[in-house]
Amino acid sequence: MSVDRPLIAVYPGSFDPVTRGHEDIARRSLRIADELVIGVAHSATQRKSGLFEIEERVAMLREVFAADERIRVVSFEGLLVDFCRAQGASVVVRGLRAVSDFEYELQMAQMNQELLGDFETAFFVPDVQYSFLSASLVREVAKLGGDVSAFVSEPVLGRLRARFQR
Ligand code: PNS
Repeated sequence: MSVDRPLIAVYPGSFDPVTRGHEDIARRSLRIADELVIGVAHSATQRKSGLFEIEERVAMLREVFAADERIRVVSFEGLLVDFCRAQGASVVVRGLRAVSDFEYELQMAQMNQELLGDFETAFFVPDVQYSFLSASLVREVAKLGGDVSAFVSEPVLGRLRARFQR
């Protein structure tokens, strides 16, 4: 790794919506990376269907990280490795909460390694208070009227409330 080139990392995901767990991972990654590009994957590029439109997810992320100049948020279509190349990134950031995450993450990391030779995935471990947290659980709890204010930041909370207002 060259010392005079900034280390650009990409943190890809669905972020539907961004949780405090994602926020924690993003901030931890900046202890190592100089710049972080958060890449919101278009639905066509992944298996799940979502709650928020991609533009809304990007908007929420931008609001959440508005104060951090080292973080940029963009959406992407197609392969992650192509997105990384276009961003000049040498590292992909992913969070590992529990052993249950491991197999899926390992598969993706190794496939990406095959697709792009100089590709590295760096795993970050969230604070223990977020180890159970997932965007899908947040969506479910919010939909059923539960309080998710401990798990998401204000811009997300407002949109969840608006979405599930009874
Ligand atoms: O947070 P998620 O939903 O688990 O993120 C999955 C994501 C977006 C990182 C993954 O689906 C992805 O990289 N999609 C882009 C398409 C791609 O490159 N697929 C091959 C991955 S091995």
